[in-house]
Amino acid sequence: MSTFIQRYTRRERINHWVVAIAFVLAALSGLALFHPAFFFLVHLFGGGPWTRILHPFIGVVMFLFFIVMAALFWRFNHITAADRQWMKRIGDVMRNRDQGLPELGKYNAGQKYLFWILVVSVPVLLISGIVIWQPWFAPYFPVWLLRVAVVIHALAAWIMILGIVVHVYALFWVRGTMRAMTRGTVSDAWAKHHHRAWYREMTGK
Ligand code: HEM
Repeated sequence: MSTFIQRYTRRERINHWVVAIAFVLAALSGLALFHPAFFFLVHLFGGGPWTRILHPFIGVVMFLFFIVMAALFWRFNHITAADRQWMKRIGDVMRNRDQGLPELGKYNAGQKYLFWILVVSVPVLLISGIVIWQPWFAPYFPVWLLRVAVVIHALAAWIMILGIVVHVYALFWVRGTMRAMTRGTVSDAWAKHHHRAWYREMTGK
């Protein structure tokens, strides 16, 4: 019978899922405003005006919960020499040839780089979003700044959407990862195989 190790507390999981739900809603409402091809998505939010009104508030909720999550996970995401070595051998990781790969702590280098991409892109989205937020803040800024902020906002949003697509794809690719964020636990075998240094730390084995 397989045994399980705790990976996330209930508080961490609730925090993560609030961020994830806010992200999906912000992305769908943002796409609806971004291009006419996505305009049909406004029906999910009660029409065009409501989509425009709700989008920035959803973004603020995502930002606030993301900051708490980033603070909780910060210390596990420092890039080490072992991470750089793992990244150089990414081809072997993909082919499941893990002999001689460095032992990993709680996260692999891909997860850590994604974490830092999010740590930059979420505040950039908030700041550029505040600059273009009608009717509250936008009137205080010059038109050239609004134009720059719109471009930065759209670029940061695309980077974040691509990052989260990779994040979710990787979860399905590495079987047994999803339950870490649903039930809070992972199997011994999963931990030993993918994050051996973390497994040793947690179990003392
Ligand atoms: C939309 C669907 C999403 C799903 C299904 C999902 C699922 C998961 C799962 C299962 C884990 C655990 C991975 C592990 O412990 O190895 C995880 C970790 C994590 N997720 Fe998500 N997630 C989603 C969206 C998001 C979003 C929108 C963000 C941030 C904006 C996010 C940020 C994180 C972070 C920071 C971690 C910890 C990894 C690290 O710190 O490097 N997730 N997610």
